[in-house]
Amino acid sequence: MKDLSDFVVPWMNDVKPYTTDDVNVAWDHPEFRRMFLNENPYPPSQAVVEAILDAVRHGNRYPGNGPQLRAKIAEKYQLGSDNVFLGNGSSEIIEMVMKVFVAPGEEVIIPNPTFSLFESRATIIGGKAIKVDQKEDLQYDTEAILNAITSKTKVIIICTPNNPTGDFIPDEDLIRILKRGIPTLVDEAYLEYHPEHLSKAPLIRNYPNAIISHTFSKAFGLAGIRIGFCFADKKVIGYFKKMQMPWSVSLMAIAAAYSAWHDGDAFNRKITANNREIEYFFQELNKIGGVKAYFSYGNYILIDITKTGLDPQKVVDSLLERKVMIKTVKGYRDRKFVRVSTGTEEENAFCVESLKQILQKKNGR
Ligand SMILES: Cc1ncc(COP(=O)(O)O)c(C=O)c1O
Repeated sequence: MKDLSDFVVPWMNDVKPYTTDDVNVAWDHPEFRRMFLNENPYPPSQAVVEAILDAVRHGNRYPGNGPQLRAKIAEKYQLGSDNVFLGNGSSEIIEMVMKVFVAPGEEVIIPNPTFSLFESRATIIGGKAIKVDQKEDLQYDTEAILNAITSKTKVIIICTPNNPTGDFIPDEDLIRILKRGIPTLVDEAYLEYHPEHLSKAPLIRNYPNAIISHTFSKAFGLAGIRIGFCFADKKVIGYFKKMQMPWSVSLMAIAAAYSAWHDGDAFNRKITANNREIEYFFQELNKIGGVKAYFSYGNYILIDITKTGLDPQKVVDSLLERKVMIKTVKGYRDRKFVRVSTGTEEENAFCVESLKQILQKKNGR
C-alpha cells in the first residue's frame, strides 16, 4: 500500500505550521500570566455578554452576513456596507487573500519580522513567501519591498502597526507600494489602540488592490469569540464571497462585535490602560543595560536582548518558571528578541521586575 504522504500536496513539507500548543498550556494553567499572544487582558463587558446570551437563544438559526454590523463599520469611514466583509477572525481574511490571489508557485512579499501566520497561510496553499527584512532600525524597507516584486508576485503584506516591531509604515511609502497595483493586504489589527491614527480604509476608493483588515480580537478584546473584518473594493469582496465557507462567522460573534462596537466606555478603558502600560514597559525596560525596547502602538513590546548575550529561549524559560508566558521572535538577521504582550497592571509590574532580575543578573549588576 502507498504511504499516505504520497497523496499529500507536494508543498506540504515546506509549511511552517503556526503552532497553538502553548495556548493549551496557558488554558491548563490559569495561574500563568498570559503575555505571549497579544490578547487583551480584560474580559468582555456585561453588555457584550448579554448580547451573546441574547444571540444564543436564536442558535437554532443560521447567521446572515452581519448587514447591521457592516453598515456601522462602513459608516465610520463613509464607505458602503458592501465594502466591508466579515471573517472568522482577521485570520480568515488573511487566508482568503491567499486563496483568492495566490496559485502554487506564486509569490507573496512578507516583511520580516512580522506576524508568522502570513507565511504559514501563504505556504499552505503552495505559495512562496518572499521575506523582506525591515531596516536595522526595524522600520519598513519600502525600497527593498518594491525591488522584491517580480512577475510572480501576487500579494504584498503590510502590517501597520507591525507585529512585533510596533510602528506604522509612513503614508507615502504605503502609497508607493499600492501604486504598483498588486493586491496588498494592509493589516491594521492593532490600529484601534490609537484612535488618533486613522485607518487606511478610505484608500480602497483610489486603490482597489488595497485590502484593509481589522479585528475585534485586540483592542475590543474578543479574541476567543472570533470575528474580524476588512474594507475592500466590491470586486474583491465578490471574490471573498465566492471563497468563504458560508456561515463561518457565528450569530454570537456578530452580536458580540455589534455590542462591543457601541460600548465606547469599556473600549476607552481598555485602550487607555494598554497605552499607559506600554509606556511603562518602554520606560522601565530601557533602563536595563544592554536592552533596547521598541516603542509600540500595539499591545506588545519588542525587546532586543542581543547585547546581553542571553539566549531568548532561556529568557522565556526563566520567565515561565515565574509563571509568566512571553515569546521569542526569531529569524531577523542575527538579532535576539523577545516579545511581551501587555497584561493587567499587576502582571506587567511582575513581568518587568522579573525581566530586570533575569537580564541584569547577566550584566553583572
Ligand atoms: C498582525 C495580526 N493580524 C492578525 C491577527 C489575527 O487576529 P484574529 O484572527 O484574532 O483577528 C493577529 C493576531 O495576533 C496579528 O498579530
